[in-house]
Amino acid sequence: MGQNLILNAADHGFTVVAFNRTVAKVDHFLENEAKGKSIVGAKSIKEFVSKLKKPRRMMLLVMAGKPVDDFIELLLTEGGVEKGDIIIDGGNSHYPDSNRRTKYLAEKGIRFVGSGVSGGEEGARYGPSIMPGGNEEAWPYIKDVLQSISAKSDGEPCCQWVGDEGAGHYVKMVHNGIEYGDMQLICEAYDIMKRGLGLSGKEMGDVFAQWNKGVLDSFLIEITRDILYFNDDDGTPLVEKILDSAGQKGTGKWTAINALDLGQPVTLIGEAVFARCLSALKSERTRAAGLLEGPKPNFTGNKQEFLDNLEQALYASKIISYAQGFMLMQSAAKEYGWTLHKPEIALMWRGGCIIRSVFLKDITKAYRSNPDLENLLFDDFFNKAIHKAQPGWRDIVSKGALWGIPTPAFSTALSFFDGYRTKDLPANLLQAQRDYFGAHTFRIKPEFANEKYSEAGNHHVNWTGRGGNVSASTYTA
Ligand code: 6PG
Repeated sequence: MGQNLILNAADHGFTVVAFNRTVAKVDHFLENEAKGKSIVGAKSIKEFVSKLKKPRRMMLLVMAGKPVDDFIELLLTEGGVEKGDIIIDGGNSHYPDSNRRTKYLAEKGIRFVGSGVSGGEEGARYGPSIMPGGNEEAWPYIKDVLQSISAKSDGEPCCQWVGDEGAGHYVKMVHNGIEYGDMQLICEAYDIMKRGLGLSGKEMGDVFAQWNKGVLDSFLIEITRDILYFNDDDGTPLVEKILDSAGQKGTGKWTAINALDLGQPVTLIGEAVFARCLSALKSERTRAAGLLEGPKPNFTGNKQEFLDNLEQALYASKIISYAQGFMLMQSAAKEYGWTLHKPEIALMWRGGCIIRSVFLKDITKAYRSNPDLENLLFDDFFNKAIHKAQPGWRDIVSKGALWGIPTPAFSTALSFFDGYRTKDLPANLLQAQRDYFGAHTFRIKPEFANEKYSEAGNHHVNWTGRGGNVSASTYTA
């Protein structure tokens, strides 16, 4: 990643100093990929810092966590960085760490930027999506270089200032959560095609190729097509030989935990994380497969119609996932006092990153025409799209249940949609239960407010005649 970003910056006319604690790596890089380019090497942290123009702009690409703190300390103690210098952390750091580092370095007069960088190695080389946040004083000094090396979408750089403290890494975290959701949705579509319709790798590849020409056109659909077409030396699809036990480095989990902390129903990312956890229980699942029975898929009907429904289910679920992601960011902005510009975030994700898609152009358009849009589902375009997709989506979720093929992400998206559009949910009963066993109190529906039950009051009823009239002192909805 680091080497590729350096090469990318050099291609854009910047002179870059490269440093690695393993000096041999720098030498190898200078003699090979960097040869003939405007890249100079440094053999020590001191030399690295001394070779930079002031205010120094330094970007770290090291593993998230302690290595970032260690490197910052190294820059401070051995490197001799000075007031006004800028340190950018381009790794997948957890946003509370970036909050802390912004404050810590600001106290020393050093400007810290925590920047999400997405797009993998290829993105880093030819144009990633870059999400910088932290000390805004740094932005005028780094804007030109970051926007030059970033991906462009319709000529606009996929790099904008995100916000204070850890806001950049926060937005990258949500990007990764959405990435988990998109991947899980694609995996569910693949499972339904494979086990429900009995399609071959080549046939599924053809479906993804077709989908990549429509509303689902995206990097993840494109690579899925290529993966399904990819045969091993024996001529059979390699993907079928890969152990079905998913790994994760934690960014999706952070998103789900943050959603719980903020009380936001980001259900699809949550299910996507849990689906990875369930997949990792491979040996337990193998035992369960011999013990727990379920129905067998028996497809009858028109295959193409069913595949069209599957496309709609994937599209509608994706709309829900992004709506949830933006709900989360909206809530975080309020909670943490950040100004997160939704149109700019959508723009940054349009190109260069793993979730890049045509779909993000429609999201950018929606938020550009109304930056205060309360929910993506209230936008005309998405409102129409989700209504159009609804019959197919419901067909797929019900078929999954009838055939015993799990669709946690499709299903939770549909449940969210149904819950979100329901004025009266059964939480009235839940509140009654809470009051019954714990005197947790309840509020009354406005239309039933009267002298006994005021609309603003928190009420408690002695449901059994034995519980007494003392209620909990706080009402937490
Ligand atoms: C990106 C990716 C990247 C992430 C990997 C792995 O935007 O380039 O999000 O940052 O590290 O996708 O994530 P998991 O190992 O958690 O799947």
